[in-house]
Amino acid sequence: MNVDGVVLGIETSCDETAVGIVRGRKLLANVISSSVDEHAKFGGVVPEIASRAHLEAMPAIISTALDDAGLTLADVDAVAVTAGPGLIGALLVGVSSASALSVALNKPLYGVNHLSAHIAVDCLGTTGPLRPSIGLLVSGGHSSILQINDITTDVHTLGQTMDDAAGEAFDKIARILNLGFPGGPAIDREAKLGSGAAIAFPRALMQGDDLVEHPFDFSFSGLKTAVSRYLQATPDFIRADVAASFQEAVVDVLLRKAIRACQESGIDSLVIAGGVAANSRLREEAVLRCHRAGIELRTPEIGLCTDNGAMVAALGSLALSAGIAPSLTGLSASSSPGIERIIWQ
Ligand code: KG4
Ligand code: ZN
Repeated sequence: MNVDGVVLGIETSCDETAVGIVRGRKLLANVISSSVDEHAKFGGVVPEIASRAHLEAMPAIISTALDDAGLTLADVDAVAVTAGPGLIGALLVGVSSASALSVALNKPLYGVNHLSAHIAVDCLGTTGPLRPSIGLLVSGGHSSILQINDITTDVHTLGQTMDDAAGEAFDKIARILNLGFPGGPAIDREAKLGSGAAIAFPRALMQGDDLVEHPFDFSFSGLKTAVSRYLQATPDFIRADVAASFQEAVVDVLLRKAIRACQESGIDSLVIAGGVAANSRLREEAVLRCHRAGIELRTPEIGLCTDNGAMVAALGSLALSAGIAPSLTGLSASSSPGIERIIWQ
């Protein structure tokens, strides 16, 4: 067991090449290089371009992170890396780099689940035992409600999206509205100029049998269709109102279901994580609704919501300090592991 070990975390599951360094639960460095501009003209991430960018960026990102932390490789006690889910070629660059470091330094290696890492980043800067919580994990690839009994050993899914992820919905609507890629931050900005109450877009799986059968599941594809239809039927639409009303519909559904999960499970702590957790309206509304419901709300700072290396280092550090067995040398990546697979054994 090593509660104050230095853990270097590597993240390469999508288009960010990122390295974070923590000592225990203290963040020492968080360096990110994104290939997003190279993908923008394709309207989405191109896996081959992402893998190549990771390879090119990795050595410099590791050096910069060590410099920022005021450390050398000799100070590293363990290496952590995202082993899935993600783009397989991209993941393999990170896993190979982390494996090489672990072998060369003769230090333990932790292959970690990207989704759990999004949640684990919330532990940075805290002390004392981590309480069980409900997790609302909203990213470009996932929208899930999780029950987190122990972030290193016991996480299970209460509900998830049946079609598009929340971030994917933001990206698609931004494209339709000519707001560019990635769409989340663009819609967030545009929505500030409009009214969320201007257009009553549908909230799926929120009523009757749908709600009974899918209390914690999401569906965003109908909302996307509703926005497209509205735009076709309304030639003089106000873009900011469409962005704000779409965002309002997503935020409303996410929070109603997450708070209900807290109430039904009797767990009065909610962590909102993943790229969409950077959304200003989601954060603002979550504060109000959680306060009203008597639920403790935890959201990582905005810079730690989208993909980063600190989250990987944070989960690796929690595993190290809990005495969890490291991953085996020869660790492989997996593009779509279940959430139950938190640390690769
Ligand atoms: O977690 P993340 O960085 O990558 C994945 O693991 O998918 O999430 C990226 C997603 C993208 O879909 C992006 O549009 C969305 O997070 N996102 C946002 C905001 N910032 C990023 N969505 C809404 N509002 C934002 N401010
Ligand atoms: Zn992510």
